[in-house]
Amino acid sequence: MKKSLLLLGLLSSFAAVATAGETLYTSHSVKVNASADADYLGMLDVATPVEVLETKGDMSKVRVSGWSLKEYPSQIFKEAGLRIEYASFDEEGVVKLNPKAGEKTVQGNVWQRSTAEGWIPSKMLEKDIEVLWKAGKDRQAAACSACHGAPAASHFTANQWASLLPVRGGRAGHTRRGNNELMFKWLQEHAKPM
Ligand code: HEC
Repeated sequence: MKKSLLLLGLLSSFAAVATAGETLYTSHSVKVNASADADYLGMLDVATPVEVLETKGDMSKVRVSGWSLKEYPSQIFKEAGLRIEYASFDEEGVVKLNPKAGEKTVQGNVWQRSTAEGWIPSKMLEKDIEVLWKAGKDRQAAACSACHGAPAASHFTANQWASLLPVRGGRAGHTRRGNNELMFKWLQEHAKPM
């Protein structure tokens, strides 16, 4: 009995080490801190891919990578001009722009490749993106067919979904908040190509 407990302990500490360098996905929107125990920086969106850099206790230091507006680098998006948000920061200077890695102009706005780093609880990380997408899809079936047929994800582009399900001001059912946050990301990631 003792032996198998010891083995379990070894296995779980091995798993923690093995996550460094891996790409995982946020299972909820989650606060990011500058250190393992404090100093609020901003939020990561749900279903955002992150690279685990380091772990400490039950916290992980992660890096998020994407694209930001050169003139207003407080948010990170999946692609230039695409309203699939990965992260949003209150503090200035958290987002590091890297124009050498990429720069694009979309509708007159200059976008550059960007990264940001911070600490989140390790329990907010999921290995399998398909587990998250299944939950998003199930939510759509449950929440979007009460008043009309649930529209297919591919019926609209990711940017159209962002307008149809606003953060604020959406009518009953038409919001990306609360239980709909993961469904909203699922709709955007399975949307009609832009
Ligand atoms: C409480 C009832 C209700 C629920 C629940 C509901 N809808 Fe709707 N939806 C409506 C009504 C009414 C309309 C059409 C009238 C309008 O656009 O004002 C509509 C229209 C739409 C449209 C078409 C809008 C356009 O401009 O083409 C989309 C897309 C849509 N709903 C998506 C959703 C999604 C996704 C969900 C689940 C998150 C959802 N709806 C849940 C009532 C609802």
